[in-house]
Amino acid sequence: MSRQPANAAEALAWLAWQAEMGADEALEERARDRFAEPPVRIAAPPAPVSVAAPAVARLVAVDEALASARAMAAAAGDLAALKTALQRFEGCGLKATATNLVFADGNPESRVMLVGEAPGAEEDRQGKPFVGVSGQLLDRMLACVGLDRTTAYITNVLFWRPPGNRTPTPAEIAACLPFVERHIALVRPTHLLLLGGMSAKTLLNTGEGILRLRGKWTTLQPGGLDYAVPTLPTLHPAFLLRQPAQKRQAWRDLVAFRAALDKIPSTTRSVGEG
Ligand code: URA
Repeated sequence: MSRQPANAAEALAWLAWQAEMGADEALEERARDRFAEPPVRIAAPPAPVSVAAPAVARLVAVDEALASARAMAAAAGDLAALKTALQRFEGCGLKATATNLVFADGNPESRVMLVGEAPGAEEDRQGKPFVGVSGQLLDRMLACVGLDRTTAYITNVLFWRPPGNRTPTPAEIAACLPFVERHIALVRPTHLLLLGGMSAKTLLNTGEGILRLRGKWTTLQPGGLDYAVPTLPTLHPAFLLRQPAQKRQAWRDLVAFRAALDKIPSTTRSVGEG
């Protein structure tokens, strides 16, 4: 403060005001003139942590997982190499909680390929697709049209069990997809049967529900395959266990699938003829 009190009365009035404001102690001999001092530099606050940062990190991780899945799948020259690539792949979080990789079962030479959804508890224990209750129903369904695991090849769109059979995340499905597509390209099926909504939606890249998709033939041509595979979506056996009235629709699909197999000249098919 540069101005001095003009008289004692004014000095006393200033003191009373300062005491009232809480300045009731003299720290230095002379009062500081804060207006004469250089402005205090306040350190810049740390850059605000963006609330979007974890989301961005997640996106980067998903991108990296996808790039690595594509590269590893493309490099696999046969089914054994594809299985090894999946055993080494670290881009799908489901692997951390699963007991086993569930790769495939059945006969890849049959060129009749079935793609289900995700392994359940029993599949996770045994490392084989469709070995639990819905697998038992699938075996019965296949038997009705003269197929079994020596005349068909079975896999899933997910290679690891989602913990507690929860719905897999889009990132988990996306990380497996390049391997599934490579799987199809390596097996070179004459026909594909897609079991359930997740399988159909993922491979046909559609948001349409399975009740609309089922029974309608389409084709699928993953990268690396020089022809389009006739593909039929149908209802998943687990769904049929919950909704037995829908079995009649699945039966129609299986009969149509069998009829399509029977149209192929036997020279293009090694096994599976009924
Ligand atoms: N359901 C599936 O879709 N796949 C399995 O392997 C088991 C149950």
